[in-house]
Amino acid sequence: MTLAEIFPSVRVRAPGKINVFLQVGGLDDDGYHELATAFQAVSLYEDVVATYADDFTMAVNGSVPLEGVPVDDRNLALRAARLLAAETGYEGGVHLEVHKQVPVAGGMGGGSADAAAALVACDALWGTELPTGELHRLAARLGADVPFALMGGTAIGVGRGDRLSPALARGRFDWVLVTSEEGVSTPAVYGELDRHRERHRVDIGPVPAVPQVDADVLHALRAGDARMLASTLRNDLQAATLQMRPDLAPVLELGEREGALAGIVSGSGPTLAFLCGGPEEAIDLQVTMSAAGHVALHVHGPVPGARVVG
Ligand code: C5P
Repeated sequence: MTLAEIFPSVRVRAPGKINVFLQVGGLDDDGYHELATAFQAVSLYEDVVATYADDFTMAVNGSVPLEGVPVDDRNLALRAARLLAAETGYEGGVHLEVHKQVPVAGGMGGGSADAAAALVACDALWGTELPTGELHRLAARLGADVPFALMGGTAIGVGRGDRLSPALARGRFDWVLVTSEEGVSTPAVYGELDRHRERHRVDIGPVPAVPQVDADVLHALRAGDARMLASTLRNDLQAATLQMRPDLAPVLELGEREGALAGIVSGSGPTLAFLCGGPEEAIDLQVTMSAAGHVALHVHGPVPGARVVG
């Protein structure tokens, strides 16, 4: 009997995210920007199935275009598995099957969700049983959004966006996501923002030294009030993303005209997230956006972070 027969594989599900508030501060020496963000995990998931193997391999499938997703050590999920093995002294390997629903390079943290799911899956498969704080530390080493994919729910992130504290949130928020065939590069969007700020320094004033999430955002989340949240949505990356992808501006306008409370670029984009008054309004908007030729999905948040399923 092989190990794989004795021990079943482990399936872990991790959510994509929307930044309902993202204030970007200055560029630090390490190449990262200081952030203050409010994350909401939404019901669009990545599934990672981990199976015993002697070495580290992976395969990817899914419901979204997969061009550009590496299946070697450039993939964050495989790097997560290797990092956990190195940190715990585990000597075997793993085969990861990644099933993607979150758009690739879409600004929703899909790759980060894969990494978070891989950490949890390998930890369970190998029986390494790292404490939550240790997993979080490894997650932060892999990327700024990986800790939130582990944690899920609603959280405030500062520093690179990886220093998290949970935020109180009541009820459910309904969103329509409009995805794009082609992704955008997150570093390119941050670079565009830096150039934009440099060009318009006189008009836009100093970059916030210590970015902070507005109290109104926390209030809206705590109250479970979609209308209030809609009036506080903010993404400092949006102007840079729209500069690189001018085709998105009319889609944002269409969604807002057709019933969304507000629309926003998700993270560095190009996925657009439209906050709706409730499930029925979201279904109506999804139908309208689909009829206009867009790929539109109805999701809700908040949902839990990476966890073993099945
Ligand atoms: O950590 P992650 O790999 O997700 O970040 C991708 C890139 O996004 C970084 O290399 C950096 O250029 C940019 N970034 C940033 N400031 C942050 C997060 C990301 O400049 N707080």
